[in-house]
Amino acid sequence: MAEDLHIIKGTKQEQYETLVPQIKAILEGETDLIANLANICGALKEQFGWLWVGFYLVKEDELVLGPFQGPVACTRIRKGRGVCGASWAEAKTLIVPDVEKFPGHIACSSLSRSEIVIPLIHQGIVKGVLDVDSTELSTFDETDQVYLQQIIDLSSF
Ligand code: SME
Repeated sequence: MAEDLHIIKGTKQEQYETLVPQIKAILEGETDLIANLANICGALKEQFGWLWVGFYLVKEDELVLGPFQGPVACTRIRKGRGVCGASWAEAKTLIVPDVEKFPGHIACSSLSRSEIVIPLIHQGIVKGVLDVDSTELSTFDETDQVYLQQIIDLSSF
């Protein structure tokens, strides 16, 4: 596994293009899901410095907090609740430019202004979500969606 991340400045796309192969190398040969999700959070947080990067995993009828980087967060989210629960219920990525305009948004941190949530889908079933929060409005777009999806797809789900 690579020892240190090579962190670069540049456009969002350039940052992802440098980061994705490094994450691939870090995850290669490791089959433990939690270990891989934890390193994905660490790598994303180190490169982009977002407020919060983490996973919630489906356990019975709730999302339960998994590996994350950032401030402490809500531990359980019901299906359909908040951005994470909506992404789970709809099995689709949700990009929220302004969290205050998302009905039912769950404010784990008052500093969060925008958010992207991507479901982890395995054999047609949502197993969890990746949630990323930013202190700025409108941080996330289709570029993040495409690359974060690529990263999730490396995770051994
Ligand atoms: N804001 C999320 C809750 C999780 S925290 O942001 C870490 C939501 O509305 O589902």
